[in-house]
Amino acid sequence: MADGEVVGTAQVHLSTESPEPGQGNINVYVDPAYTRRGVGSLLVRAAEEHLVAHGAVRLFAWVLDEPGNRAFAERHGYRAGRSAHFLRLDLTGTALPPLQDPPPGVELRTGSDFADDPRPLFELEAETTADEPGDMDLELSDYEAWLEQNWRHPLLSLELTTVAVVDGRPAAFSAVRTDGTRYFTSMTGTARAFRGRGLAKLAKNDSLHRARAAGYTEALTGNDTGNGSMIAVNKWLGYEVCATEVRYVRDLA
Ligand SMILES: CC(C)(COP(=O)(O)OP(=O)(O)OC[C@H]1O[C@@H](n2cnc3c(N)ncnc32)[C@H](O)[C@@H]1OP(=O)(O)O)[C@@H](O)C(=O)NCCC(=O)NCCS
Repeated sequence: MADGEVVGTAQVHLSTESPEPGQGNINVYVDPAYTRRGVGSLLVRAAEEHLVAHGAVRLFAWVLDEPGNRAFAERHGYRAGRSAHFLRLDLTGTALPPLQDPPPGVELRTGSDFADDPRPLFELEAETTADEPGDMDLELSDYEAWLEQNWRHPLLSLELTTVAVVDGRPAAFSAVRTDGTRYFTSMTGTARAFRGRGLAKLAKNDSLHRARAAGYTEALTGNDTGNGSMIAVNKWLGYEVCATEVRYVRDLA
């Protein structure tokens, strides 16, 4: 705070999705009007102390791919890892690919259709999250934790989430979070046995069409820069890269 105004934040959490304990995450943001006054360093120090007190042994931080931000991370003892793009789609100006009929045997549902029993979606998300490229091996194994952190996340939109079902089982999905104005894809995934058949495109395009019809004007998403197939899906939908972040890592042990 400066003169009662919030001028920076440090968001911290210990990962519950990594099989390795003690994986901490720090994201520090400082209001551009207040940079170069030591605010970021103070926030990093407070965040690190907090995470170490809770058992962190390795810290990850997303850093905008710009020289000043990268130098800041390196000065604080972090080394660069993989990078990820933010992608943006203007739903007012860009024509989405036309809606396709699902191929025979495939049905499209919404997340709401799984409200009574979301476990099949947990299983699909666990399988696909394990294959997502990244610095941290993610493993969703705790159903109760997934219910708490993902299924009941206050921004999750079950209405806009699309699930492609084959023989009664979810085969692909595109999960959406929204604050009522912006549409953000938190995860798209296709079960291993069903990849390469256009199901991710089908599910995400269906969800975007419903979002546009509901009045959303902007869709956002994030992809590891090495995730060729997901980036291909997003480019096909019309997304464009709008920023790149680098994952920085600091080992404390
Ligand atoms: C990414 C993922 C969702 C794609 O699902 P899918 O159902 O196989 O996707 P689709 O079949 O709809 O489309 C894939 C497209 O990527 C293309 N593609 C596949 N591998 C590619 C690569 N390495 N580089 C570029 N394009 C590639 C395919 O050719 C296809 O395009 P086409 O239809 O023009 O041929 C799936 O691989 C997955 O679940 N991965 C693990 C989870 C993950 O990383 N999710 C994204 C998190 S941000």
